[in-house]
Amino acid sequence: MSSMATLLIILGLLASFLDTTESQIGVSYGMFGNNLPSETDVISLYNSNDIRLMRLYFPNQAALQALRGSNIEVMVGVQNSELSYVAASRNNSFDWVWRNIVTYSDVKFRYISVGNEVNPSDGTLAPLVYIALTNIREAVVFYGLGNQIKVSTAIDTTLIGANYPPSQGAFKAEVRAYIDPIIAFLVANNAPLLVNVFPYFSYVDNPVDISLAYATFTSPGIVVQDGALGYQNLFDAIVDVVYSALEKAGGPWVEIVVSETGWPSAGASAATFNNARTYLRNMVAHARWGTPKRPGRAIQTYLFSMFDENNKEPQIEKNFGLFYPNQTTKYNLYFN
Ligand SMILES: *[C@@H]1O[C@H](CO)[C@@H](O)[C@H](O)[C@H]1NC(C)=O
Ligand SMILES: *[C@@H]1O[C@H](CO)[C@@H](O)[C@H](O)[C@H]1NC(C)=O
Repeated sequence: MSSMATLLIILGLLASFLDTTESQIGVSYGMFGNNLPSETDVISLYNSNDIRLMRLYFPNQAALQALRGSNIEVMVGVQNSELSYVAASRNNSFDWVWRNIVTYSDVKFRYISVGNEVNPSDGTLAPLVYIALTNIREAVVFYGLGNQIKVSTAIDTTLIGANYPPSQGAFKAEVRAYIDPIIAFLVANNAPLLVNVFPYFSYVDNPVDISLAYATFTSPGIVVQDGALGYQNLFDAIVDVVYSALEKAGGPWVEIVVSETGWPSAGASAATFNNARTYLRNMVAHARWGTPKRPGRAIQTYLFSMFDENNKEPQIEKNFGLFYPNQTTKYNLYFN
């Protein structure tokens, strides 16, 4: 090997290392509003705010058209309502990937999220997730995109049983039959687990044991000491609970991508503009540092959500936006 080639490899490794220490903040683009800007305007708003990662919950064709040629990296969902279609046959999953991914060869897809927050005890949907994952992955590989696009599913933290301290984190016994094959799939394909992480809901469910400061990254010191690891914020604790659970379920090296996190500005307990701004600003600043169990490795994190969505229910779901529907920023966040 020439010394030039060696140098290039070293520079490449260095660049990939530096890359992971950068903030990796994305924003999910939810569309449950009757007053939202056009897809083209939304893509422009991502660009003008330097938001480089987008989560789309379904392959909205107008949004994908508007993303053509842009540098925004995209996580796109197979909606829960489409799981039965893509699980039914390889032909269907190939068709889904062809229509929504392959035909948009100038869109930078990074992840396909197969199902969002499927409840493991849902006898209709839960049995479809693993089959849908493998079918979609086969199609992605068939079309030559296996290295570019990771296939995974997004879970919520109701799958967790033990959660304190973080090292004790474990999946509930009754979800292991559901999650273990999924974890094995992620291990085999070197794909991350997508996790929706909401310190807000942990806090409002238990304001006696959890302080607002711990939930919003403003504790002055360690709040939870867990062996050698100290936790100063609830976000880290929740992510590390899931890392502990993964370790105990055959996935010690599976990475976590936070596919949703946010804080509402109105409509419920602790949902104030100031709390939301504090949480979100600190979240953006924090993501690059990793968690105590995975220090120094940026946690790719998708903020939920781009806009206030007036058609969401219940009330609390309407006020998670980072922007008002008229495209004015709520919190003046700097994303990168
Ligand atoms: C396979 O999918 C295509 C659409 O891509 C459809 O036209 C065809 O009927 C399907 N074949 C079978 C056997 O399901
Ligand atoms: C945008 O909407 C917000 C919330 O309704 C409002 O406070 C703000 O004044 C509006 N901005 C513009 C430029 O219309």
